[in-house]
Amino acid sequence: MNQKTILITGGTSGIGFSCAAYLLKNGYRVIITGRNETNLARALQKLGAGVNGYLCDTSLLPDIDRLVENLKLVDTKIDGLFINAGIFKAANFAETSEAVFDETMGINFKGAFFTIQKLLPLLQNPASVVLNTSVVVFKAFAQTSAYTASKAALEGIAKVLNIELAPKGIRVNIVSPGVTKSPIQKKSGMSEEAIEQLLAHFSDHSPIGRIVLPEDIAPMVEFLLSDKSLILRNEKIIIDGGTTL
Ligand SMILES: NC(=O)c1ccc[n+]([C@@H]2O[C@H](COP(=O)([O-])OP(=O)(O)OC[C@H]3O[C@@H](n4cnc5c(N)ncnc54)[C@H](OP(=O)(O)O)[C@@H]3O)[C@@H](O)[C@H]2O)c1
Repeated sequence: MNQKTILITGGTSGIGFSCAAYLLKNGYRVIITGRNETNLARALQKLGAGVNGYLCDTSLLPDIDRLVENLKLVDTKIDGLFINAGIFKAANFAETSEAVFDETMGINFKGAFFTIQKLLPLLQNPASVVLNTSVVVFKAFAQTSAYTASKAALEGIAKVLNIELAPKGIRVNIVSPGVTKSPIQKKSGMSEEAIEQLLAHFSDHSPIGRIVLPEDIAPMVEFLLSDKSLILRNEKIIIDGGTTL
């Protein structure tokens, strides 16, 4: 039985949910966060035993503080942290509003930054932090300027954290998924037709002959959270089925 406790931000759907299910199957204790009560309750019910859930909008610092206080109340110690909560809103650069910019940076970067910072007192020595970024950081995709900036910013702090947090036994690594079929596309503002075209393109032009699925990401995240990767610092696993080759 694996006794590690892993906290996943945004564990109510897609990649976060799939990772929670995979980790539970492999004997981890799992904590998920979500910003929507109904989605959180549904995810917890589907995941079953061994998981706890907390409401926390990762872009709101008071919510993160409340999460930390609630975890302290039940004496939680965290061995691994999967910084996964994120949004994508499709928008041309010229038309990207301040609201979309702020929401994207607020969740994907600021939220990630302060979630790690505020959870530091609960992290074990050793502990593993895994950041979910994206291939957009190194391969340009139209309509992703704010999203790309948020993910590049997140990758940008990984090296610094690996230096500053090393004395606490905390290491930071990255998963960089390619286009992965998940509810994120429907939430992006893209039309059904545009989503179908996107998924078909990345299925047809992939060396693996299909689209990447959340279930493909989960074992890579588990590897980076586990002691199998204790030696790794700032490593980035690109999980795209070879579409950016
Ligand atoms: N799918 C892809 O193609 C792809 C590719 C590369 C990287 N990624 C990254 O993978 C991560 C997960 O995305 P996904 O594809 O699994 O999408 P998803 O199914 O939409 O999952 C996103 C999760 O984050 C949660 N979330 C969003 N904003 C939040 C907030 N402010 N506070 C707390 N939780 C919040 C969502 O909750 P709600 O359901 O309540 O909104 C959901 O649980 C994101 O960081 C995304 O950028 C995805």
